Amino acid sequence: MSGATAKKKEKPKASIRPAERIKDINWQLGEVDPFDLDQPYEPVKKPVKAPKSKKSADQEAKLFPLHNQLYKGDIIEVMSKWPDNHFDACITDPPYNIASDRKGLSWAFSSHVTIQDKWDRFTPDEYEQFTVNWLEQVCRVTKENGNIFIFGSYHNIYTIGALALKMDLRIVNSIIWTKPNAQPNITCRMFTESTEQVLWLCNNSQKKAKKWTFNYHDMKELNNGKQMRNYWDIPLTPKRERIHGKHPSQKPLRLMERLVLAGSNPGDLVLDCFAGSGSTLLACDRLNRNWVGIERESEYCDIAHRRLDDERKQRRLL
Ligand SMILES: C[S@@+](CC[C@H](N)C(=O)[O-])C[C@H]1O[C@@H](n2cnc3c(N)ncnc32)[C@H](O)[C@@H]1O
Repeated sequence: MSGATAKKKEKPKASIRPAERIKDINWQLGEVDPFDLDQPYEPVKKPVKAPKSKKSADQEAKLFPLHNQLYKGDIIEVMSKWPDNHFDACITDPPYNIASDRKGLSWAFSSHVTIQDKWDRFTPDEYEQFTVNWLEQVCRVTKENGNIFIFGSYHNIYTIGALALKMDLRIVNSIIWTKPNAQPNITCRMFTESTEQVLWLCNNSQKKAKKWTFNYHDMKELNNGKQMRNYWDIPLTPKRERIHGKHPSQKPLRLMERLVLAGSNPGDLVLDCFAGSGSTLLACDRLNRNWVGIERESEYCDIAHRRLDDERKQRRLL
């Protein structure tokens, strides 16, 4: 055979069409068909020691977080024990710093929960320092060019965005979550607040950021074949997602599933360091991503455990 014709035939790449990957998901209902079950979920007791590597002594002393576990504790204390470059992505919903001492106005018969918790109360300086501390840790434990999605509202998102720019992180996009059934504004002195934002960062400098995960075709498929916009109209968390207890800022699963699908791949390890009632963790579990959560309050850890257990029981029944 001549040199020209001896060229090896390139093997066709195995590809999964986006339509096949997401065909089982009933997005309109915010529900998905079951995936294969792993071992039943159990809360973590102790993290395991990382195996020895050629990395620095500091890195060697780090502990690997167990997959699919919720760690109860303070975000900095827990994360500082973990090695660098470990997670494929982070999707998280930090305190918004909107808690107030006053009971506040509320509509009669409304199920709206106002945030009065200690975990959501900071002075502006404290909030900046708190954000820098956790964002630095998140960048350290997330892989280079990994996605970092951060929730916020007008109260805190500008602070977080400004700090991200100061830290020379690449802002890829932001998503506006619009809530068609938002609470009316009782004061009638301003527009009804009906949006939240998700800041999408790539874990690298503005110049070097590249090859972040974006499942473009899955998003297009979800949007009836049109490019997905960064304006997502999704109702507030439905009652059926709160049957295991109420969290004042619980996010709807439909929103979390869309983010997980857009910004991570099956088998990836996703971190939510402000896990609350476990919405990110549940969305990852449904979509075959591995997850790790951190939450400080026992009450919310219990809600998250109940939700995850229930989800897995339901899947076993099907
Ligand atoms: C905005 S909520 C997250 C809600 C979550 N997305 C959900 O759907 O349930 C923020 C959570 O972070 C937790 N938190 C606040 N400060 C923390 C800290 N320093 N360490 C660990 N968790 C913390 C709070 O207890 C709260 O549950």
